Amino acid sequence: MATNHSHRLLARLGITVPIIQAPMAGTSSPAMAAAVSESGGLGSLGVGAMNAAKAREAIHQFRKESTGPLNINVFTHRPARANTQKELAWLERLRPQFERMGAVPPDALHEIYTAFLSDADMLDMLVEEKPKAVSFHFGLPTRPQIEALHHAGIVLLATATNLEEAKAIEAAGIDAIVAQGYEAGGHRGMFDPDVEDSRLGTLALTRVLVQEVDLPVIAAGGIMDGAGIAAVLSLGASAAQMGTAFVATDESLADAGYRKLLFSDAARHTIMTRAISGRPARSLANDFTRLGSSVSDDSIPDYPIAYDAGKSLNAAGKAAGQTGYGAQWAGQGAPLARALSAHALMQALKNELDQALS
Ligand SMILES: Cc1cc2nc3c(=O)[nH]c(=O)nc-3n(C[C@H](O)[C@H](O)[C@H](O)COP(=O)(O)O)c2cc1C
Repeated sequence: MATNHSHRLLARLGITVPIIQAPMAGTSSPAMAAAVSESGGLGSLGVGAMNAAKAREAIHQFRKESTGPLNINVFTHRPARANTQKELAWLERLRPQFERMGAVPPDALHEIYTAFLSDADMLDMLVEEKPKAVSFHFGLPTRPQIEALHHAGIVLLATATNLEEAKAIEAAGIDAIVAQGYEAGGHRGMFDPDVEDSRLGTLALTRVLVQEVDLPVIAAGGIMDGAGIAAVLSLGASAAQMGTAFVATDESLADAGYRKLLFSDAARHTIMTRAISGRPARSLANDFTRLGSSVSDDSIPDYPIAYDAGKSLNAAGKAAGQTGYGAQWAGQGAPLARALSAHALMQALKNELDQALS
């Protein structure tokens, strides 16, 4: 089952267990990543919503708790295309929701994160800090960025949701592909959110990429336990990347409302929605996903401009004691989530994997 690719990838990443804790902007924490790396897997930090200084602080925080490998994840989306008319219309569409919380929508929306493609400070910081790996979501970095990171000895990973994206990743000289199935929680890593989504599931996508691309494949989407990890390894994946499984760990930054929803019926109804951030993402069913099903994709501003409205609405909701407008991302395996420490979850996963492989 263990292929040359998988041996090489694990050795390059400095891990002994084929488990990558998914980077989760806003939910993963230095303590979570440290517990995973100390348990033999690869801990990750999603810094897509941070500037370089905050990301550096998070790396230093991790290093206080672990000398193990760390993956830093950045967002490589094309910078947002502003459209004031569309943004104002979207705020008007959300006005009743704001009013229900006794609030009013903001006057205007902004691009709340800088894409890595135009973030020179983030590149410099990564080259200096030299995390073991850097991973890219929503597309590819520029050639000079790839060269600078490789020159610093960093292993590079990128998300693909189909064969075309995987071939582009291979051609760019990236070291491994994260095959993200439609089951996956959080943002879909598709390079262009406006093309038709082929919605490949984790099983089919992993197998196609293993057969068609000469790079290690890391399977992601709906993998919640050792049996799931063993299943993707048997398809030829070199490792499993798991997000939702870590959302309810003690070290997660998920708030009480998010955790409560994860252990409710909503976990059986995860929904792909664009309404929260402007890009498709899989979320637990909540007030925002319900609103999302009644609007057309064209009416939603570009990512991450729409996320500015989403975050304001969530803040207004929380101030009024309503938690239904959060970015409560989760994959289709959500009913299998466990509330444990990240260390205890890693022990359980390792035991289950050993059992499944024996
Ligand atoms: C709460 C949450 C936040 C996420 N944030 C990121 C992120 O910042 N960067 C990224 O590359 N992937 C992100 N993802 C997607 C994961 O990398 C991965 O594809 C997904 O978690 C796999 O599916 P699963 O959640 O069913 O395990 C996120 C997923 C979740 C659940």
